[in-house]
Amino acid sequence: MGKTTVALGLASAASAAGISTLLIDLDPQGNATSCLGVDPADLEFTANDVLHADAKGVAADAIAPSKWDHISLIGSDLSLAERDGDQALGSEHRLRKALDTDVLGSFELVLIDCQPSVGKLVSNALIASDSVLIVTEPSVSASQGVANVMHTVDTVKELFNPALELLGVILNRVPPRSREAEFRTEELSSALGERLWSPHIPLRTVIAEAQGAREPIHAYGNRAADLISIFDVHLARIMNGGK
Ligand SMILES: Nc1ncnc2c1ncn2[C@@H]1O[C@H](COP(=O)(O)OP(=O)(O)O)[C@@H](O)[C@H]1O
Ligand SMILES: [Mg+2]
Repeated sequence: MGKTTVALGLASAASAAGISTLLIDLDPQGNATSCLGVDPADLEFTANDVLHADAKGVAADAIAPSKWDHISLIGSDLSLAERDGDQALGSEHRLRKALDTDVLGSFELVLIDCQPSVGKLVSNALIASDSVLIVTEPSVSASQGVANVMHTVDTVKELFNPALELLGVILNRVPPRSREAEFRTEELSSALGERLWSPHIPLRTVIAEAQGAREPIHAYGNRAADLISIFDVHLARIMNGGK
């Protein structure tokens, strides 16, 4: 858990820095879409239309402005769930095809928010991407969960997208003063080494508050100063190719 929150935190940092960003919501739950202040019913085309069309460059038609400065969106709604079970030959390549040619020309950063379960939608995201960030939380199943995703990334890299790179693993929802969380963090750290990025993101109610208000966390100033600087650090690292 915590993927959409990290995608939104990075988008918030990009918005504050004036970095022209496209966020593609590839989760049928559409949480990123709604948190960016967009009602999918107001969109002419959504991610479902993009993947359904199966045509080169078609993503351009679905790019809409969000309520956040410098952040554009390809939004999603529940209809996108149909694409996860799409059995058509090559259906996992459709996002890449839809983004082909000049679609991404003016964007400095493209973020794709994925759903939890690995199916056709996640394959589409991995085949269309240059790099992957894994988000986890300090729970009992975290190490196994991260290992599973890393295995999927390796498979996609080997079979479909040799350029794909694992940038790192971000730890979110870290509670204060929890022995259990400290233990799980240690466990992840010894399994992942440098690939576990610092700083970790603490569990903070202001995050849920910002999401409920459809506001970027950077709009919360002093109340979210620690979170703002954490997302700024992670965004800078992403813009620097993970270094
Ligand atoms: N650091 C955090 N502090 C407080 N609440 C958080 C934090 N990260 C995520 N949440 C909350 O946890 C829930 C799940 O997070 P979300 O980012 O939507 O996970 P995912 O996209 O992986 O399903 C949401 O209600 C979100 O507001
Ligand atoms: Mg999500």
